[in-house]
Amino acid sequence: MAETRDIAILVPGVLHPHAKDRIAGSFELVTLERADPALVTEEMAARVRGMAAMTTVEAGFIDALPHLEIIANFGVGYDAVDAAHAGRRGIMVTNTPDVLTEEVADTAVGLLLNTVRELPRAETWLREGRWAREGGYRFSRGSLRGRTVGIFGMGRIGRAVAQRLAAFGLPIAYHNRRKLDDVPYVYHDTLPGLAAAVDTLICVAPGGPETHRAVNADVFEALGANGVFVNIGRGSTVDEAALIQALQKGTIFAAGLDVFENEPHVPEALIALENASLLPHVGSASVATRQAMADLVVDNLVTWFTQDRAITPVPE
Ligand code: DGY
Repeated sequence: MAETRDIAILVPGVLHPHAKDRIAGSFELVTLERADPALVTEEMAARVRGMAAMTTVEAGFIDALPHLEIIANFGVGYDAVDAAHAGRRGIMVTNTPDVLTEEVADTAVGLLLNTVRELPRAETWLREGRWAREGGYRFSRGSLRGRTVGIFGMGRIGRAVAQRLAAFGLPIAYHNRRKLDDVPYVYHDTLPGLAAAVDTLICVAPGGPETHRAVNADVFEALGANGVFVNIGRGSTVDEAALIQALQKGTIFAAGLDVFENEPHVPEALIALENASLLPHVGSASVATRQAMADLVVDNLVTWFTQDRAITPVPE
């Protein structure tokens, strides 16, 4: 096996400690406070051949590293990496698909139930000691029964969400870049078309220019007053201001969000809303799954430098 100990791998910003430990065990680990080209020293630029990142990696930062061969992204979504620019420079970009599919799909279902049945609010009420003081908690206004689910983005995670909700007995429809021959659900070729046909919209679509603010005021209007919107994909896919308005005005019934436009900052207006259920981007965040993602990041680096191939290159 090729010797990797002298190969410098750059980690800008935070990364899972298990990934960092493994990188330090096999390579020369170089860390940087953040992915800022101004922080790259001449020595770093001359030595770094690989990067493991869980942060935004822009073209300028890539260009500050002339010998970079591979960017191993921590996460299945790689919209934070300028993969097009990396591609033009002949740099491999990898992500962490498959190992997190089930976890994220489970979170989507949990978030949907929390949102529709208002479960977190009931728990807060109990913890405030109000059960014994005030008697029974008020009934939730929403229910999963009778709902029709639309899934925006029928990739691996979308399919896993659909499978789960189909097992709940709910009819499923979807919108995707193209119709898929191997899924049994009703296809809609536009997102507003899907929203008009369902009352529960689950966004699993990837971020990036193609989906930027695709979930907009028209989509909420089409979803309607009983509408529930769940986002487990990327915050950039939603027009957040339009969502806040829709929730405030009752254009839709409720929203469950794991992702936001400007993480980790969540608009005060969303936090103030009773009909929003909010999570801090924890879709894949179980200990075991995050460890598996960390392993895949490092396995991609090791395979690249020892076998000249990547295990999970991002799609072209
Ligand atoms: C992903 O893998 O893209 C998740 O959102 C975690 O970052």
